[in-house]
Amino acid sequence: MAFLELNDVEKSYGENPVLRGVTLHIEKHQVVCLIGASGCGKSTLLRCVNALEEIQGGDIRLDGDVVSGEGIDVNALRRKVGIVFQSFNLFPHMSVLNNVTLSPIRVLGRSRADAEAQARTLLKRVGLEEKASAFPDQLSGGQQQRVAIIRALAMNPEVLLLDEITSALDPELVAEVLNIVRDLAEDGLTIIMATHEMSFAQEVADQIVFLHEGVVLEQGTPKEIFGAPTHERTQVFLKKIVAAGRL
Ligand SMILES: Nc1ncnc2c1ncn2[C@@H]1O[C@H](COP(=O)(O)OP(=O)(O)OP(=O)(O)O)[C@@H](O)[C@H]1O
Ligand SMILES: [Mg+2]
Repeated sequence: MAFLELNDVEKSYGENPVLRGVTLHIEKHQVVCLIGASGCGKSTLLRCVNALEEIQGGDIRLDGDVVSGEGIDVNALRRKVGIVFQSFNLFPHMSVLNNVTLSPIRVLGRSRADAEAQARTLLKRVGLEEKASAFPDQLSGGQQQRVAIIRALAMNPEVLLLDEITSALDPELVAEVLNIVRDLAEDGLTIIMATHEMSFAQEVADQIVFLHEGVVLEQGTPKEIFGAPTHERTQVFLKKIVAAGRL
């Protein structure tokens, strides 16, 4: 039994099948990068793991417990599985500190003093201790994304899902966000990351998963997938990435 398992997961939007039997087993402390063409189902897969979408077939298990389907405790699941989106999604009317402390106080029942102490430690970790009372629109995109990441970390998740978290950032801001992910990976957090940052995936991932039209077509170490992809579709995809100068 793996720490996080997707077993033959099927997801459709109406008549449109998006995940067509995805099986993926992820061990604790692993960093898994999901790659594949636009529309192949990366975001949908992550959203299913966090129960933001219902699945129609198969199941998802975390630490042995089924966390998909009817009757699951969605709030308990989301305490264990954090998600960060491309578009940051910070609360615009709240300071950085309040963005980070809101869920620990409301959902985990932490005292404000505790939650703020933790938030300040996390802010320091990502180099933003000066920004505690700033509002999101007073921060750069990279700074906002760093806040979004520590907002997820403030819930002490067991798994962190990252959906193209650098895609909305100017190139010079990408590194500061990826450095944090690298740091979290080194700390042993279990991470699933949908990304177009192939050189980062190559460096940091334990496993690369190539999704194509809603199925896992190929999966392996970065060396295997980037060095010697066996499936023609993977080869075509990687050739395009190389041609675009992204690997
Ligand atoms: N809420 C929705 N309703 C209907 N169809 C959807 C919805 N969300 C996604 N889809 C469809 O599901 C498919 C997979 O979308 P998804 O967003 O998972 O792809 P992706 O791999 O994340 O792509 P990208 O690299 O562009 O982010 C697409 O065909 C998309 O049009
Ligand atoms: Mg996506």
